[in-house]
Amino acid sequence: MLLSVRNSEEEKLIKQMSSETHEYRVLNPSFDIYVYAVGSEIVHICGRDRDKSGNVVYELPDTKRERVATLKDSVLFTDMPKICKDFSNDRTTRDTVLRLYQSDIRDTEYDGVEIRMLPQRYEKLWGPSNDTIFFADGIRFSPLAGIDVLSDDVKDAIEIGCGSGFIGKYITTKCKNIKNITFLDINPFAKQCVKNNTKELGKQTKINIKIKDAVEYLESSGKKFDIIALNPPYVPRMDNHEFTPYQGQELFSYMIKNADKLLKDGGKMVTNISSMSLNRAEKSIGAAKKKGLKYTHISKMAVPFKVAAVQRNTEWIEYLKKINAFIKQEGTDYDYWHQLNLFAVSKE
Ligand SMILES: C[S@@+](CC[C@H](N)C(=O)[O-])C[C@H]1O[C@@H](n2cnc3c(N)ncnc32)[C@H](O)[C@@H]1O
Repeated sequence: MLLSVRNSEEEKLIKQMSSETHEYRVLNPSFDIYVYAVGSEIVHICGRDRDKSGNVVYELPDTKRERVATLKDSVLFTDMPKICKDFSNDRTTRDTVLRLYQSDIRDTEYDGVEIRMLPQRYEKLWGPSNDTIFFADGIRFSPLAGIDVLSDDVKDAIEIGCGSGFIGKYITTKCKNIKNITFLDINPFAKQCVKNNTKELGKQTKINIKIKDAVEYLESSGKKFDIIALNPPYVPRMDNHEFTPYQGQELFSYMIKNADKLLKDGGKMVTNISSMSLNRAEKSIGAAKKKGLKYTHISKMAVPFKVAAVQRNTEWIEYLKKINAFIKQEGTDYDYWHQLNLFAVSKE
């Protein structure tokens, strides 16, 4: 399956970016998702098993794609209640989309950049999700928020906690003078996923893939960057020991506090922080501001909080309620909501 994602306001935003006068503002995007069957799914799920001459078709190359449905204004990329509601009068499309979501291949495309994720092969690896595309969209339209993240001056970039590597690939594709990109994650499956997905990137950019704890790597390498992209774990917990892709606040706290020594002059660290951990982030931002770093809020988006392992852990969910981690959102299909915030800490 391919999910091709578009900012619903894309054309308007592009026009505004090319106009002379900017009124800087915090962006608040919404996304439309185009769902495609890919390659043999077209034969086996969409039933196109004859060619134009009537011959039986068994397989098709992955380059063949067929649009099955459009999910307007989708805040989640896997939103079963929305799919069931949107297609309640077209149950064949509903069932086809639901079937496609079970595919062992998940391609995601945004603004011409695509990643193939194999969820069953890359265990617990974070594939492109709504927060990933929210991040890419935010840096794309960052000039509207008063900061140009993807500038021609970018030479060295790193994606910390890269997961599938979508954001790092996006930065490498869009920054035309980039010389070095490092993809770093603690999950060993990131290595193969990033390797497979970066083959087509130009030879002028050196691609480094590191499987390591971020703090350990940054402390030992002493490297500085023009862009640091960080979509970190953000779910607070009363006893924050165990490692998971979504839990913990230590990584972003370290990164923000140390941004001045990790960035080159003119460099920017862009990070996604949920309203769930804004209290903790604000402390680190305060420390960064004291060191003379500038803070820019680029974009925000309210999204359902949908992590089964947390939702089903009564003690944890009660703790999150107690610290006011969730935002109110009436009349929806989800119990808990939070707000994603993309912001930049820049060294001028
Ligand atoms: C929310 S996911 C984001 C993945 C990817 N950047 C994206 O936006 O799709 C957070 C990622 O950080 C990684 N991570 C968590 N703690 C880390 C650490 N201490 N060092 C390196 N990576 C870490 C996780 O394995 C996970 O892939």
